[in-house]
Amino acid sequence: MRHHWCFHLLASLAVVTLPLASAGSVVCTHLTFTISATASNQIYAHPPDQDNATSVIDFIAESFGPEGSPVDGTREVTGSFSFGATYCRPSAHSPAKTTGKRRDTTLYLLVHGITYDKTFWAGATRDPAAADSWHGIAAEKGAHSLAIDRLGTKAALLMNANAGGSVLDPTGEVQLPVQVAIVRGLMRLLRRGGGKGGNPNLPRFDNIVYVGHSYGSVLGVNLAARSVDERSGKVDGTGPDVLVLTGYSDALPETLDASAAYLFSSANLVFPGRFPDPPFNMAFVTTAGGAVREAAMYAGNYSPAVAEADFLSSDLCSAGELGQLVQFGFTDSVDYAAGYDRPVMVATGEMDGLGCNEAVVGLSCEEILERTKKIVPDASAYGGLVVPDAGHSWFLHNVGAWGAGEVVDWVAAQL
Ligand SMILES: *[C@@H]1O[C@H](CO)[C@@H](O)[C@H](O)[C@H]1NC(C)=O
Repeated sequence: MRHHWCFHLLASLAVVTLPLASAGSVVCTHLTFTISATASNQIYAHPPDQDNATSVIDFIAESFGPEGSPVDGTREVTGSFSFGATYCRPSAHSPAKTTGKRRDTTLYLLVHGITYDKTFWAGATRDPAAADSWHGIAAEKGAHSLAIDRLGTKAALLMNANAGGSVLDPTGEVQLPVQVAIVRGLMRLLRRGGGKGGNPNLPRFDNIVYVGHSYGSVLGVNLAARSVDERSGKVDGTGPDVLVLTGYSDALPETLDASAAYLFSSANLVFPGRFPDPPFNMAFVTTAGGAVREAAMYAGNYSPAVAEADFLSSDLCSAGELGQLVQFGFTDSVDYAAGYDRPVMVATGEMDGLGCNEAVVGLSCEEILERTKKIVPDASAYGGLVVPDAGHSWFLHNVGAWGAGEVVDWVAAQL
């Protein structure tokens, strides 16, 4: 199989394809977290009419345009936010043995992209305990894994609905800043382990490896940036020990334009049964149809049946998330994660129309990933993995388990 490491440091690393974990090597459970968080969300100057699907798409188109969506100040959002997660540990590992005690314990914190949920990391089989899920691949290295539902998923929105059944506001509340704050709170909790104020079901993790996909990667970059203490310049406990960005590069502002808004449609128009209005008004969107989703997320070598199942299980995305994607994602406006001095890997499909669009950017995927280092100029190590024959959601492609194995090997060499 072809594979291209685009950073020279990696040229010296032997690339070994691991045997897949045998079935039953990982034990998975469902956990629920409730995290208090406060953040400065943005006030959009031209918010959409949330009952008007055309107005919502127009808002997204404006935000993908060269100027982004204009912002008129910030608004503090505060609360306790609940969400579900899939937690998996290597089966040889008894939680009782390590709870609250110091051990060399590594956790992969897995954060999905827009229109996905925590099951993204279960991979094509949708079974988190499968050998070729991200959980199984991490367990093969003795690592634990936790895949969370972000705030904008249907499950998390329903969990956080008020007594009257209203969900969070998709324009003003479901935005990136509050999600960064929630993950910061989660990082603090995970560092405490099962001890005081921690989660009794979890050991204490010495190393937390953040792995994002797409929007989850944008969140990861902003998390890393926020973790750098302004006064000391040091990374605090909310900063991951290793940051892995998949389905990502710094090229998004070049590859997204207003026409990309038509990849989306109000979710209650696409799946009226799954996303009824109320509570999901027109400003909760998803990919506009099966063919559109397949073209956006898949390329190269993949199973059409997986793409079809992916479409049928599509989750939500909020207008508030999309409105600031370009602004928070990259380059000019928001912090590069300067000062973040831990290892960083970017792993993106070579046919990813967003992350590695060679035709639009005028660079090869390897060059794009190498250029992306400017987002994390102080990273202690930087690796770029061009995932061959794959598109945006490469983990769901036939190369997925191989790519995750490469990432996990690289990470293990850094810790
Ligand atoms: C919906 O929004 C579009 C675009 O802003 C606008 O042209 C149209 O008049 C709106 N429709 C209604 C019923 O308000």
